[in-house]
Amino acid sequence: MTAATLEAAPAKANSPFFEEKVLWVKHWTDRLFSFAITRPESFRFRSGEFVMIGLPPKADLGETKPILRAYSIASPSFAEELEFLSIKVQDGPLTSRLQHIQAGDTVILGKKPTGTLVLDAVRPGKRLFLFGTGTGLAPFLSVARDPDAYSNFEQVIVGHGVREVAELAYRDLFTREIFEDPLVGEEAQKQLVYYPTVTREPFANQGRFTDLIASGKLLADLGIDQPKFDPEHDRIMLCGSMAFIKDMAALCEAHGLVEGSNAEPGDFVLERAFVG
Ligand code: A2P
Repeated sequence: MTAATLEAAPAKANSPFFEEKVLWVKHWTDRLFSFAITRPESFRFRSGEFVMIGLPPKADLGETKPILRAYSIASPSFAEELEFLSIKVQDGPLTSRLQHIQAGDTVILGKKPTGTLVLDAVRPGKRLFLFGTGTGLAPFLSVARDPDAYSNFEQVIVGHGVREVAELAYRDLFTREIFEDPLVGEEAQKQLVYYPTVTREPFANQGRFTDLIASGKLLADLGIDQPKFDPEHDRIMLCGSMAFIKDMAALCEAHGLVEGSNAEPGDFVLERAFVG
């Protein structure tokens, strides 16, 4: 062993990052794609958490540090691979490059997943509403594939709001595949409801979640006979743009729900969907 490799080894062990391999990439639209990477054996996370993701610096471009962004992990806590849902921003510092990754490429993974869109941060209840817009669906792909969601709640409602029908990524998962899942399939058949809505094209459900909730249409469509959320039974997780989570949080509060955190579980929790 040379002096150089002797020096390099401890530095890598102390690194805050893992270097993982891309397993697959799926492009949904010219603005949206999913990918999965290998999972290090020592990497633990709770369903719904996010982690830093990046690409190795390009030495030939004079880069010394990776560009990193926080990404919700879309796979459940026990999955063998780590899945992510990403936007593609043509001049985005990370996603302009990340959108071109292919199987076998290296992706950098942070060692410290964290976040509030976790079952631990909401109080016990009857119904769990998971409202995501755009890539804000990602943490709920994790939570809705976790058996704990179905043992903690009688009903799990996944709401995905997008501008165009083509952006309803994972529609097949929520309309078919999840019902055949060996771990949660049976529970999902009885307890999972998928509510997609589109705002800028004709679709079966149309309009913003804020409007659909304020008008009572969403609860009526779900067959829930109450005009508002019920602080005794309803728990809500929110993920999307700043404007979306701010407006939805105001609505939840107007319905009497209290925001929660890891330190103090509550009736609703929120997180911004990450961009760039
Ligand atoms: P809209 O098309 O009416 O703007 P975005 O891609 O901008 O994050 O939007 C994703 C989805 O979230 C769109 O359907 C968009 O509706 C909706 N949306 C954006 N802002 C809000 C908000 N403040 N409240 C509710 N829905 C929102």
